[in-house]
Amino acid sequence: MLDITSTPKFPPNPNRSIKCIVMALAVVCAAPALAAGSFTSAQADQGHQLFNDHCAECHRPDLTGALGPALKGSDFAKKWGGKPVEDFYQFEHANMPANAPGSLPKDQMLAITAYILKQNGMTPGSTALSEAAAKDMKMPGGV
Ligand code: HEC
Repeated sequence: MLDITSTPKFPPNPNRSIKCIVMALAVVCAAPALAAGSFTSAQADQGHQLFNDHCAECHRPDLTGALGPALKGSDFAKKWGGKPVEDFYQFEHANMPANAPGSLPKDQMLAITAYILKQNGMTPGSTALSEAAAKDMKMPGGV
């Protein structure tokens, strides 16, 4: 008579180890994924246009800087990386454009901020950037 309860005749369920690998990957992948998604692609596109209209004359269309400093690259990452996106946004809102500080409505400056985040390697997601969301987000780069 076949007794499958006393002696395990089967190798460990292979599904189980696959599940473990999938779960481990999910944990590893979850951390960087959190850095994405708090602005939308449409918002960044709108910000691109606004940036060209209001900021590019001093920061260049490719953000590499002219009269104003570069808004991407290693110096930028050193200065802003890891800081709350809110600080960055508030700086822009209070000081930029340098020739007319505070002249842009908040939603336009949020769109520009989304564009700058995208240019610095952040991935757009399904939720638009808001002042509230900016509090919980960190600027890309840094240590
Ligand atoms: C008339 C030129 C001019 C325009 C237009 C301008 N900026 Fe600037 N920007 C500057 C200068 C000059 C500085 C550096 C002085 C300072 O930090 O206060 C600067 C600094 C900055 C910084 C800080 C950079 C750093 O390294 O800390 C940000 C962010 C920024 N600008 C964003 C913007 C945005 C967004 C716009 C468009 C809405 C804009 N600027 C338009 C001249 C300009």
